Amino acid sequence: MKLENTCPEQQLEFTVATEKEFDEILAMSKGIYGGLDYLPSRYHSWIREPNRTVVLAKKNGAVVRIWESWASSSVLSFSSQPTATFHCGEAVGRERLAHRRLKRGPALDTAVEPSLGKGDLFKTASGSCWHTNNQPSAFSPPLPVPQIHNQIGLQSVYIVDAGETVLVEGLRVAPWERGKGVAGVLQRFCLEMVKEKHPGVKVSRLTRDDKLGPKDFKKYRVIAKQGILLVRFNAQDLLSRLDLLVLALEEGGFCPEPSELLMAGEVAEVVLRESFRSEVLPNQTIIQDWQPFKATASNLGLLQKKELCWVVDKKSHPTVATLSTRPFSIPLGEDWFYLNIDVFGRALAHVKSQLIHHLRLQMPGLQGNVMCQLFLEPALWLDMAEFCQVALGLELAKGYTEQYLLESDV
Ligand SMILES: CC(C)(COP(=O)(O)OP(=O)(O)OC[C@H]1O[C@@H](n2cnc3c(N)ncnc32)[C@H](O)[C@@H]1OP(=O)(O)O)[C@@H](O)C(=O)NCCC(=O)NCCS
Repeated sequence: MKLENTCPEQQLEFTVATEKEFDEILAMSKGIYGGLDYLPSRYHSWIREPNRTVVLAKKNGAVVRIWESWASSSVLSFSSQPTATFHCGEAVGRERLAHRRLKRGPALDTAVEPSLGKGDLFKTASGSCWHTNNQPSAFSPPLPVPQIHNQIGLQSVYIVDAGETVLVEGLRVAPWERGKGVAGVLQRFCLEMVKEKHPGVKVSRLTRDDKLGPKDFKKYRVIAKQGILLVRFNAQDLLSRLDLLVLALEEGGFCPEPSELLMAGEVAEVVLRESFRSEVLPNQTIIQDWQPFKATASNLGLLQKKELCWVVDKKSHPTVATLSTRPFSIPLGEDWFYLNIDVFGRALAHVKSQLIHHLRLQMPGLQGNVMCQLFLEPALWLDMAEFCQVALGLELAKGYTEQYLLESDV
């Protein structure tokens, strides 16, 4: 679906994401967050989620990069006519030329009009390069399967808090288009779209973990801040040692605190209690795996659809609550998973005990390596980093970083 607005000065076109663009989005996102990108795992559910729109920015008639799953490492080169500036129409002609030369291979996706720039390098999955100029050389390539990639930006907007808040997520711009203002234009477009479609939205919220500058603090209010502790381990290896580790801890004087798993029907009763919202949650907000939700019944309805585990110290009067999201795969490697645990409350001993509880809940059945992110009160970071490394034998994957929950008026 094509969205109505276009942005002439940036030559950007906006569309709603569908399954069709998934490979392009993956290609564009390559390397984001050092292999820890959540979007490949979330994309398919995001595009179907009610109240969410995933917006793609496409460069209108501009140079695009192309990847294709071409097994050969050959280089295809076209000889040159100098000073060619490409416009859409010309480029299509040029693409047909290329297509003719590749007639032994499967057809190009001609639904998307490509425009190939003179001297553009486009890389194959096997690392080979194509180099375009204007005329074909005598060289005949082996069976390539080119695919066109011209999506250059993505942002998701998700309406939460009973229609009062837009949650902005997933922002990314293709590496070769960064630093040209694309993110700014995409953000502004999404905001205008939200204002038009959801007039009840009052504020925009987002979470970030990059360094914020004075400009950001002018633009946003900080609603909450959590420290991020990132550790890694092998799931089955840890599971096989966990009982012994806890025994050894107890012998050394560690006294596990009581921890209780909330059943689905118990969550609302505990979480919506006024004392829990104001004393345990950061600024009355449930932050679940980077997504902030006000602690309201409507948001708990949204959260109920996810496979979440709430653990508290005492159901009748919780002082610490932890929320784990089911592990999901990340691009770091075939057998790598992300386990995210949000921690609310300040009592260190409870946090340690609840971490062990979540590991026991989430590790069985998981084959592979885990990057585990704990989002917690910044003052707990150091002690928890030591506990993870020394007591549990986990490897620290990153030093101290912070997750900011930011808000601005719409
Ligand atoms: C961050 C990124 C999207 C910026 O893209 P860009 O097109 O180079 O950015 P622009 O030149 O349009 O300028 C940046 C604008 O985006 C904003 N911005 C930068 N980083 C941002 C972030 N992490 N979250 C939200 N907004 C951000 C800036 O404040 C600026 O806004 P302004 O136009 O109101 O001043 C891009 O570098 C990228 O894709 N990085 C990898 C993925 C990533 O880190 N995404 C952030 C998700 S939290």
